[in-house]
Amino acid sequence: MDDKGTLAELQQVIEKYNKDDPSSWMRLEDALEKVRRELVPPQIFTMKQRLQTVNNVCIVVALEMGLFKTLAAKVGKSLTAEDLSKTTGYNASLIARVMRVITAIGFANETGYQTYTANGCTLAQNNPGNIGGLIISNDIVFPVASRIRQYLQQNKPVDIAKTLPAYDFAMGETIWQTLAKNIEWKTGFDDNMTARNKTLSVPWHLKYPVGERLAAGSLSAKPIIVDVGGNQGVDLQRFADTFPELECELILQDLPETIAGIPGQLDSRIKPTAHDFFTEQTAKDDVASRKILSNIANVMQPHSRLLINEMILADVNESMIRSNMDMLMLFFTNGMERTQTQWNELLATVEPPLELVQVWSATGDQQCVIETCLAE
Ligand SMILES: C[S@@+](CC[C@H](N)C(=O)[O-])C[C@H]1O[C@@H](n2cnc3c(N)ncnc32)[C@H](O)[C@@H]1O
Repeated sequence: MDDKGTLAELQQVIEKYNKDDPSSWMRLEDALEKVRRELVPPQIFTMKQRLQTVNNVCIVVALEMGLFKTLAAKVGKSLTAEDLSKTTGYNASLIARVMRVITAIGFANETGYQTYTANGCTLAQNNPGNIGGLIISNDIVFPVASRIRQYLQQNKPVDIAKTLPAYDFAMGETIWQTLAKNIEWKTGFDDNMTARNKTLSVPWHLKYPVGERLAAGSLSAKPIIVDVGGNQGVDLQRFADTFPELECELILQDLPETIAGIPGQLDSRIKPTAHDFFTEQTAKDDVASRKILSNIANVMQPHSRLLINEMILADVNESMIRSNMDMLMLFFTNGMERTQTQWNELLATVEPPLELVQVWSATGDQQCVIETCLAE
């Protein structure tokens, strides 16, 4: 497509844009990215891309200095660098330099000389879920980035079945070992999982017709749902809220430190349980993922269903965000996001093998429910 065609396509997307409709803003994102890719001169495009690292460090700096918090507390008011200095205790000249970047990337507005006001991004970045997201995609990535060249040189050809994750190479321990002792990172990680699921995802039980299956009355016993690696229980709590009368057992499994840090009260039907998914399953009814799935498949019966709430990557033209997620999985744990073909391959190698029953998705949700059962 020529330049005019690309611009006409963007124009059409803008005309149909509705910010409340996820499929609409996703189309806008794609169209804007396409315009940037095709029309911005390559030397500018590549320079802007690499400077994103500096922008991201500045976001961490602004957050740590309390600049977002201070601006967010005074929404609608303009604050000078001096005002921000009085509240945060940091040097006003430093604040003005950091805020120059922060306003240039749209994370606050500049309303005058060294004067700023909060905008939507200031507020969004200041909430615990997004602070956690910043910890995951920046703070935890920085040590990996600083050692990634040596990692690639020393571990060539980097077959993840035989090579340590880049994170372990850089830090000398697994990410889970770090999170067990670094409270700030652990809180950020858990806050991000909870907020992401609450705000950006459609609950799994609305994608998968669990209500219909339960209403069909085919159950001879109380249903048991086990959320393996269920973090702080956000998904099981949303399930419990949707089915307040349902007699069921909801088992939340995660690492002991995650279970110990669950904030607030969960529904009384949810039983938080410390359980390492690399060990044999106790709740009866790539290498690591096969091991986790095999431990589950081992205790499944012919009627059991294993629901995997995960991404299915497109074979071609995958979006930047989802491709980024795949790289985070790779850097941190040698994990991966998968295409449909890769999911089928993985399920077939589980012991005992699993097979795909159906994929359940919803517009605007990055993940779908992959319904599986024991293979016949
Ligand atoms: C990426 S999070 C996903 C959380 C949640 N299922 C969701 O979709 O938002 C992975 C979860 O696995 C947990 N986890 C990591 N290693 C584990 C292990 N060996 N056994 C059980 N849970 C583990 C982490 O604490 C974390 O809550």
